[in-house]
Amino acid sequence: MEPSKEFNSHALAGPSPAEAAHSILKKSKLRPALAVVLGSGFSSVLAKCTVVYEVPYSAIPGFPKPTVAGHQGKLCLCFLAKTPLLVLSGRAHYYEGHSMETVTFAMRVLAAMGLKAVLLTNAAGGISSKFKCGDFMALTDHINFMGANPLRGWMGEQWPRFVDLTDTYDPQLVRLLKKAGDKAKARLSTGVYLAVSGPSYETPAEIRAFGRLGADAVGMSTVPEAIIARQCGMRVAGLSCITNLAAGRSAGKLSHQEVLAAGENAKPVAGRLLENFTQLYGES
Ligand code: HPA
Repeated sequence: MEPSKEFNSHALAGPSPAEAAHSILKKSKLRPALAVVLGSGFSSVLAKCTVVYEVPYSAIPGFPKPTVAGHQGKLCLCFLAKTPLLVLSGRAHYYEGHSMETVTFAMRVLAAMGLKAVLLTNAAGGISSKFKCGDFMALTDHINFMGANPLRGWMGEQWPRFVDLTDTYDPQLVRLLKKAGDKAKARLSTGVYLAVSGPSYETPAEIRAFGRLGADAVGMSTVPEAIIARQCGMRVAGLSCITNLAAGRSAGKLSHQEVLAAGENAKPVAGRLLENFTQLYGES
């Protein structure tokens, strides 16, 4: 039996990813294979990019407008380290009240544009005792604790519904991230990212539980995008900047200001890391 179509409002109302993709493709001839989504702390890399075309999310059909401080909301086609790159500066979060379809719309647009790989960056709280503020973590896997899955509902027949997530984070791209980290002299290790819906931070008891479940870091994004990118056949890499130690892992209280300030401090290293990764990807 065909699944009910009434569950996926975005897929039925509003512009399609193909329309959004077309609106961008007709503006520039640049066709990058790699996209990067800039989370809190990573936006400084834009200063290193030679931008060929940029457009605010508000001018792309179907794109949500980010409402979070520290998230700009624009798409850029550019060159970084001589490599064509598509940059999404800012993202929509589930905690802003968007549906999962809206949160992941950009991934469907990237796939429709012909992108082959996407690097998803984010700010995260460190659960593992190996982390200090300002460290980076290349994601090797995730735990979806958001209580929702972006594949729920009717998406049309173009893509598989029961998506295999065994190698969500492409092992070859993890190796490139490690190399890029070494070259940038970043403190970078690998680990498992656990996604919560937010927007409250976690309780210390939750963090202890997440640690026992095998999570190394916790955040409020990335996982829905990774799932849809994999559904659409794109290769995925994930990179967290550890902007704070998770609740109960240090004496202080958590605040969004602290997360933004730590992201600010990590910017120079984060910029070098993304530049190196883009170069290595271009050479691979
Ligand atoms: N918890 C959840 N999300 C986060 C955190 C955190 O401690 N830090 C940055 N994003």
